[in-house]
Amino acid sequence: MRIGIIGAGKIGGTLTRKLTGLGHEVHVANSRAPETLADLAAETGATAVWAADAASDADLVIVSIPQKNVPDLAPGIVAAAKAGAPVIETNNYYPQERDGRIDAIEDGTPESVWVADQLGTPVFKVFNGIFWKHLLERGVPAGTDGRIALPVAGADGPAKKLVFDLVDQLGFEPVDGGTLDDSWRQQPGTPVYGKNYDAEGARTALAAASRERPAEFRAA
Ligand SMILES: NC(=O)c1ccc[n+]([C@@H]2O[C@H](COP(=O)([O-])OP(=O)(O)OC[C@H]3O[C@@H](n4cnc5c(N)ncnc54)[C@H](OP(=O)(O)O)[C@@H]3O)[C@@H](O)[C@H]2O)c1
Repeated sequence: MRIGIIGAGKIGGTLTRKLTGLGHEVHVANSRAPETLADLAAETGATAVWAADAASDADLVIVSIPQKNVPDLAPGIVAAAKAGAPVIETNNYYPQERDGRIDAIEDGTPESVWVADQLGTPVFKVFNGIFWKHLLERGVPAGTDGRIALPVAGADGPAKKLVFDLVDQLGFEPVDGGTLDDSWRQQPGTPVYGKNYDAEGARTALAAASRERPAEFRAA
């Protein structure tokens, strides 16, 4: 697949490494000129591009940048992807450490619904709850005992199936996190977040989630 990745940090860089390793054609961007990603491009064979070009003709797009920076992305930035291409976003809202206050999220809008609103397109929430080093190193083949499960929230259909397949290729067990409106169940502070559960554990944790944001994940 041709995959466009916007954000080349711990998660975007890890996904660039892993997805090129799987044979995908990756176009990757950060907030600066493509030349600033020369090392990552040389290491992985990915093509470094401007963020505005990353989604062009992509079969799948990944947005992995700080939550507060999402509104800085150019309007329609993912619109040049192929028709029906899923847009994954990995972001988390850390109001106290990084992102400052985002009123809509404080008022109860799920973090990924807010991202979808900013991008003007539906998204899938996945990879937000796994530490980047575990994403890099802990993938294992399907059927392995204790395989780490990653919840995928977003609309049912062929695009979600593609996201499930991608998670599986990366060595993790995709579990259904419901629709995007359900995606609060895997936000920071929920039982599944950062826990590396297997599929059964992840489903149990998703079901046990509360909509109430813990104090450390609300704006001060
Ligand atoms: N770190 C983790 O283990 C982890 C795990 C799961 C989810 N997440 C979430 O995933 C997202 C990314 O996290 P990260 O740890 O990978 O962040 P990071 O290491 O700080 O990298 C952020 C990347 O986003 C790029 N970026 C920032 N603003 C941009 C813009 N306007 N246009 C294009 N690119 C932009 C940065 O480019 P420049 O270098 O040019 O600034 C950088 O490549 C965050 O929301 C985070 O909460 C992180």
